[in-house]
Amino acid sequence: MKSDVILGLQWGDEGKGKIVDYLAAKYDVVARFQGGPNAGHTLEFDDIKHVLHQVPSGVFRKNTKNVIGNGVVLDPVIFKREIEALKKFNIEPFYNLFISKRAQLILPTHRLLDAAYEKSKGDEKIGSTLRGIGPTYQDKTARIGLRVGDSISPNFIEKYNKLKEKHLSILKMHEFEYDLETLETEFFEALEYLKKFKLVDTEVLINQSLAAHETVLAEGAQGSLLDIDFGSYPFVTSSNTTCAGVCTGLGLAPSKIGQVYGIFKAYCTRVGGGPFPTELKEAVGERIRTEGREFGATTGRPRRCGWIDLPALKYAIMINGVTQLSMMKVDVLDTFDEINACTHYKMKDGSLTDAMPFDLCNEDITPVYKTFKGWKVDLTRLTDYKSLPKELMEYISFLEEELKTPISIVSVGPNRNQTIFRSNHFSQ
Ligand code: GDP
Ligand code: IMO
Ligand code: MG
Repeated sequence: MKSDVILGLQWGDEGKGKIVDYLAAKYDVVARFQGGPNAGHTLEFDDIKHVLHQVPSGVFRKNTKNVIGNGVVLDPVIFKREIEALKKFNIEPFYNLFISKRAQLILPTHRLLDAAYEKSKGDEKIGSTLRGIGPTYQDKTARIGLRVGDSISPNFIEKYNKLKEKHLSILKMHEFEYDLETLETEFFEALEYLKKFKLVDTEVLINQSLAAHETVLAEGAQGSLLDIDFGSYPFVTSSNTTCAGVCTGLGLAPSKIGQVYGIFKAYCTRVGGGPFPTELKEAVGERIRTEGREFGATTGRPRRCGWIDLPALKYAIMINGVTQLSMMKVDVLDTFDEINACTHYKMKDGSLTDAMPFDLCNEDITPVYKTFKGWKVDLTRLTDYKSLPKELMEYISFLEEELKTPISIVSVGPNRNQTIFRSNHFSQ
């Protein structure tokens, strides 16, 4: 068997959590491969809304094993809080959750460093979620980080103190106030809690699952345009959010990658700083934000909104080897008379391109739009592809032709049930 993958093609918050939860019923294993509690994945069913940060979105499917892979950075405090919240819904992830011993631990001082670095950047700040993601990955590549498996070694405290001292010496250079004692008490309590879970070699578990013909779904966090290598650097996150991250973040060979589901919104959003060529700063952007309830699931910040960006989507599809697409939040555009899609970028010298420039941050780009007539139909109750309005079907056909990839899922509301699956509409 091969592992299928779900990942975001824009700047995050495309609706990955909803689709992972929807598809998880068909999978034996759901595995997060990168990122950490910077993610906020929303799931809605039975009139309840859940936001997951660390725990994979297959957790509500009782027969599905959930894996936190080695590529993830894990904050025990947020993890504990999340598990306790799930217990209220009779979900007991103790039994079907497996955590990689190789996943890196987010320490309290990583969070402090994140805040200190952001503060020192002034106007150029990235708009980090301040969950300690960057500093933790930094220590991983500097080969000084602490892994989940280290927490059970007898000299863990020694290693912890050594790293903490290093962090404190950096923090001294920043004007920054903090109460580390409280943070540490909470951290060590949560670490003891975490140690009761199944801490395993998840790379072995996943490969054995595939060998035993179990189905595996890898769940991405963030989006392709936030990828450390291919995103709008430096306004990115610190991990590979793209398909290659599945191999390094779960220990899967490239030949073990199956279907790659690329998720995109019918428009585009971004939270935090950085370039966004199709951003709408005036009334239309505000209208998308209101209709789409575009406020961050992790930080509550208003998301920046704009029209769909096809050059960026084409780039993300190429990097990820996307085999099928999920078009999300289509219902948000239900009341619009006209809908725009950016087909090209007009560069400063007047030339048109649909290629991604090297440095999106320093380019003077004017988006070139193709305008479509709105469908003006409430999509939220529709369950069958054939019942979609003609204008929307034409728009979907246009996107499929431009992106050269089939759209197999059309999402028309936040609820698990508001998902239209075109079962025979993708290439295997
Ligand atoms: P993720 O990070 O990719 O999992 O996405 P988020 O959960 O951060 O943001 C997506 C938001 O859109 C959540 O509030 C979802 O409940 C909501 N959502 C997902 N799909 C749809 C949809 O098709 N229509 C509408 N209106 N909302 C949706
Ligand atoms: P999900 O999985 C949207 C953004 C932050 C910031 C930049 C770096 O819910 O799609 P970081 O905390 O990683 O150092 O922040 O990346 N960012 C996200 N934006 N959705 C996310 O996750 C994000 N995770 C990080 O806003 O601009
Ligand atoms: Mg999110």
